[in-house]
Amino acid sequence: MVKIKALGHACFVLSTDEHSVIFDPWLAENPEAACGPGDVAVDAILVSHGHSDHLGDAIEISKRLGVPIVAPYELAMYCARFGCDVAPMHIGGGRQFDFGHVKLTQALHGSAIVEDDHIEYTGMPCGFVVTMGGCAVYYAADTGLFSDMKLIGDTNDLRAAILPIGDNFTMGPADALIAAEMLRADVVVPTHYSVFDIIQQDADSFAEDLQARGLRCMVLKPGEEGEVG
Ligand code: NI
Ligand code: MN
Repeated sequence: MVKIKALGHACFVLSTDEHSVIFDPWLAENPEAACGPGDVAVDAILVSHGHSDHLGDAIEISKRLGVPIVAPYELAMYCARFGCDVAPMHIGGGRQFDFGHVKLTQALHGSAIVEDDHIEYTGMPCGFVVTMGGCAVYYAADTGLFSDMKLIGDTNDLRAAILPIGDNFTMGPADALIAAEMLRADVVVPTHYSVFDIIQQDADSFAEDLQARGLRCMVLKPGEEGEVG
């Protein structure tokens, strides 16, 4: 069994009785965040790409807790400059950690730190398959639809797939339905659809469209938690 808690936008915590990890901890500046960066207590911080709504407060949390940032190599090296513990990985690679197993998947997106006067590219973005408590969870991160999601579904017995539905920057609901059919996870958790005007979507109607295809959806509002496994 593993618990999935939504903290707002693309930030989620996966936890078992012993361990927990956080994905893309954008909290301090996130208008819908269910908690602040100072409230987070985890074993590791998984960051999919450098955009500010994902890297968020990762560096601050990592330094406070003394836990690693798990990220694609270039982004991990960027974080290491600030004195963080890092676990650099890359797409296709897996690693066993004390809290569980992490494998990086491709994501069709960008990855950069966008500052006022320049853009610092931080390599390729990624998604994650995390296995904790015997349960594999796919966190797609910001991505467009790609047909290799079928391969991710074929090679992992997924208990949950956390998929963006916001459109504009990522898949919209129609493509997320196709993704869900390829992944065949026990449950789909929609993400990345509410915090900016341009990505507003109706998660309940997405859930109905999934149900019509025989697939389960778990809509988690910021602060809500569900269990899979
Ligand atoms: Ni992004
Ligand atoms: Mn994003």
